[in-house]
Amino acid sequence: MRQLKRQSVCLLGALSVTGMLQAAPAADEEPLALKRGCMNCHAIDAASGGGRKVGPYFVDVAKRYAGQSQAVETVAERVQSGSKGLWLNQGVRVPMPRNPQVTKEEAQRLVAWILGLK
Ligand code: HEC
Repeated sequence: MRQLKRQSVCLLGALSVTGMLQAAPAADEEPLALKRGCMNCHAIDAASGGGRKVGPYFVDVAKRYAGQSQAVETVAERVQSGSKGLWLNQGVRVPMPRNPQVTKEEAQRLVAWILGLK
């Protein structure tokens, strides 16, 4: 019983930490996205002007992966190693080449920012 109590306190602690992490808004990584060349092929949304570039709008990426907690890692891997065919339904026919100029950590920061866009 005593053991059980300790475990649940622990679990509660872990849950509130995760809750805090999720509540914290991702940092604005647009400057990094500009520096790493992402914005040559992507626009944030239709309102940013210039229309859709070769890649999907970042707000559409956010919509697609909304509520998927595993998404940051998976999508960041695609940013690093390239992606094709996932956005055909949005009229995107060209693949995204590899982006060796971003580190894994940068790719994850960029994707956390993208997935938090509204
Ligand atoms: C040469 C053009 C180009 C560049 C540069 C580029 N992208 Fe892309 N990106 C694309 C295209 C095209 C797609 C759609 C690929 C597909 O259909 O699977 C895409 C898809 C994506 C997706 C969605 C992937 C998914 O899993 O659904 C994300 C997120 C993304 N890009 C982020 C980035 C970031 C961050 C950078 C900068 C490091 C970047 N892109 C640089 C063209 C580009």
